[in-house]
Amino acid sequence: MSRKKLIIGNWKMHTHPKSSVELAKAVADGWGNSESAMVGICPPFPWLASVVEAVQGSKVEVGAQNCYPAHEGAYTGEVSAIMIKEAGCKFVLVGHSERRHGLHETDLFLNRKITSALKAGLAVVFCVGELLSEREAQQTEHVLEYQLAAGLAGLTEDEFKHVCIAYEPVWAIGTGKVATPQQAQEAHAFIRKRIAKLFGENLAAHVYILYGGSVKADNAKEILNQPDVDGALVGGASLKADGFLAIARAAE
Ligand code: PGA
Repeated sequence: MSRKKLIIGNWKMHTHPKSSVELAKAVADGWGNSESAMVGICPPFPWLASVVEAVQGSKVEVGAQNCYPAHEGAYTGEVSAIMIKEAGCKFVLVGHSERRHGLHETDLFLNRKITSALKAGLAVVFCVGELLSEREAQQTEHVLEYQLAAGLAGLTEDEFKHVCIAYEPVWAIGTGKVATPQQAQEAHAFIRKRIAKLFGENLAAHVYILYGGSVKADNAKEILNQPDVDGALVGGASLKADGFLAIARAAE
């Protein structure tokens, strides 16, 4: 089945007040009214509202890079899904490997984040992916199966309709070592099979599965052409409007 591709830029902890708005405007203007793919950007928390304003009326959606599971309360330094929603965002990334491995976020914690984001009315981009050591030990499928089952535990089919998956092999993130199109396709097909087990064939046929890890303008097309790759989660290459737009155009 053919799904319109979805390209999301994850700015991570980059940009400044002025450069974030300039980058967002350049992406929105450059993309124009095209409906041939869907485009989203994830700025750092402090610029969410100004970036939402900068892209207003355009085809570009804004998401956050993370959220905290509780709605409000004494959680110093945290930002809830409701706050993100109120800032004008449409979606949130959950489970990025830099949070799983750098900040030791557990599958149980990620499951709580997903549930609270969905309850707040945000769509969720749920990131999964194996370490290099796990791939070398032939554990990739086992890791993906576990991350999906634990992260998505307890979700109803209706809730799952607002979730998309990002397959990001940890060894390919920010390393310049992109997965081969075959490696990406194999992992994506496996993820789709597991989603079918968890939520049924129909939702599995519709779920978006993005690839992330060193996607650039010059390798995007080959990866995006794989039958089970529905888009890309782009880190470094999303920080320049031209490069990011070239990836989005490769998805058209
Ligand atoms: P990268 O990051 O494109 O810089 O490898 C991808 C990601 O972390 O989502």
